[in-house]
Amino acid sequence: MDQNALKEQTGKESVKYIKSGMIVGLGTGSTVKYMVDELGKQVQEGKIKDIIGVTTSSRTAKQATDLGITIKDIDDVDHIDLTIDGADEISDDFQGIKGGGGALLWEKIVANASNKVMWIVDESKLVHKLGAFPLPVEVIPFGAQHVFNRLEKKGYKPTWRMDGDQKYRTDENNYIIDLHLGEIDDPKSLADELIHMVGIVETGLFLNRVNDVIVGTQNGPKVLH
Ligand code: 5RP
Repeated sequence: MDQNALKEQTGKESVKYIKSGMIVGLGTGSTVKYMVDELGKQVQEGKIKDIIGVTTSSRTAKQATDLGITIKDIDDVDHIDLTIDGADEISDDFQGIKGGGGALLWEKIVANASNKVMWIVDESKLVHKLGAFPLPVEVIPFGAQHVFNRLEKKGYKPTWRMDGDQKYRTDENNYIIDLHLGEIDDPKSLADELIHMVGIVETGLFLNRVNDVIVGTQNGPKVLH
């Protein structure tokens, strides 16, 4: 099975955890796309009823709406039962990097409002230590070059996330700077340092935020707690 087939496997498997009547956080990315497709199918077939989706990006909102899944704004629900989202890296101690798809800010807000968070990944995302995947940070456009320069001075090897020849814009109209760190020795102190830099809105370090992980493997889906 190639990586896409593994993504499809874990995406479909995760729908088994969505029960009728739930308020479900719908993540973003190519793995989540398989999950939302399967959820839409089961909603259309009447196998899952009365669910409400809270989405983490305009992309997922469009996909879910097109499939007939009822969507509510995060501020129109008082909680989310379960959020299912992808991840870019998960370390041995269950910490994560997210934001490869540019939706980290809404993803973190939705995760925070969730009673339970499940990540769905193919096995290539499991790593010993975080950092080989570039760490995204979301910055507001005003003064963003100064934030970039500060990150460069610190040796964090920043690059602008691009969309063709323009800087990538998030759903909040912000920019993303990717940090090419190689290895992150202390994710907690890095997260604290970055979030206190003026202009940075959020980082892709998702620390202590996941309950379960479903991994797509050559031997079928595996659940990690
Ligand atoms: C989007 C994300 C995605 O969940 C993450 O990038 C994984 O994506 P994919 O399933 O396409 O590999 O954090 O912001």
